[in-house]
Amino acid sequence: MLFRNGNTSNDIARRPTKETAVSWGPFDLSGKAAIVTGGAMGIGFGIVKRFVEAGAQVVIGDLNPELAAEKAAGLDGAGRAQATRVDVTEAGAGDHLVEQCVAEFGSVDILVNNAGIYPSTPLLEMDRDLWQRVIDINLTGLAFVSKAVGKRMAEQGSGGKIVNIASIDALHPSQVGLAAYDSSKGGVLMFTRAFALEMAPHRVNVNAIAPGGISTEGTAAPLEGSGMTQEQMEAMMAQFIAGIPAGRMGEPDDIAKVAVFLASAASDYMTGELVVVDGGALIG
Ligand SMILES: NC(=O)c1ccc[n+]([C@@H]2O[C@H](COP(=O)([O-])OP(=O)(O)OC[C@H]3O[C@@H](n4cnc5c(N)ncnc54)[C@H](O)[C@@H]3O)[C@@H](O)[C@H]2O)c1
Repeated sequence: MLFRNGNTSNDIARRPTKETAVSWGPFDLSGKAAIVTGGAMGIGFGIVKRFVEAGAQVVIGDLNPELAAEKAAGLDGAGRAQATRVDVTEAGAGDHLVEQCVAEFGSVDILVNNAGIYPSTPLLEMDRDLWQRVIDINLTGLAFVSKAVGKRMAEQGSGGKIVNIASIDALHPSQVGLAAYDSSKGGVLMFTRAFALEMAPHRVNVNAIAPGGISTEGTAAPLEGSGMTQEQMEAMMAQFIAGIPAGRMGEPDDIAKVAVFLASAASDYMTGELVVVDGGALIG
């Protein structure tokens, strides 16, 4: 049957159910299979949540698969998520993620490299092991997971999207103690551009997001373990927020919505780009 607006009855039947009542338009991720590293909490979980809402099927690769599975079970949306244990620094981590995603969902269309750590130690007090761990997780792990996924995407021949979670510290050091972190994230920025060039003939877009200060389990932990009083913590937060023109910390969802954009057809003509999402901190 043809309706007045040109829709057929089949189109009507395909319309979103109550569960998926949002029309995602060019941001739609239905039928897409995605991998999100470090997706058990924080920014990564925020991304998983929005991906599932937008219709994607997601493999969460995290050091804590139990937590990831528990959080995934509570998600509501047109897609779904499941978890597997992965340490992105281990050889074969990328191959494992690709195998899981293909076995469960038939392809790999999207990768979000989110797993990362940000220990604060001035270089004058830092040993080589800590430096190396930061680089291994934040840069080398990201590169070799990208390699495994990039190979699979090239074989599939249907394009793909890779989104790297960098940081505004890739552009400007935010505080003393982050020399290793800032170096790793500067590396992520240049890796994004270099790999974007390599993958362009395969129609794989490689972009990055540079978050500013985002409230996550990871950013809360050092404050909670610092021995500061509630008042001291509040004063420190107030000082930090005073440097953010938007007047608030970011939330994981502020990053997740931009990740949906970079993972979807809405950003098809963007590659090698860094999108800053910082409430204006860099211009403040
Ligand atoms: N929160 C911020 O203010 C902020 C700002 C800029 C950039 N970032 C970046 O965003 C990303 C996520 O940050 P977050 O604050 O959500 O972190 P978080 O600590 O809250 O969560 C990180 C997740 O990554 C997982 N993970 C850590 N190491 C891993 C490894 N080797 N292999 C697999 N999984 C691992 C953890 O288990 C955890 O689930 C990081 O890359 C971080 O550098 C965060």
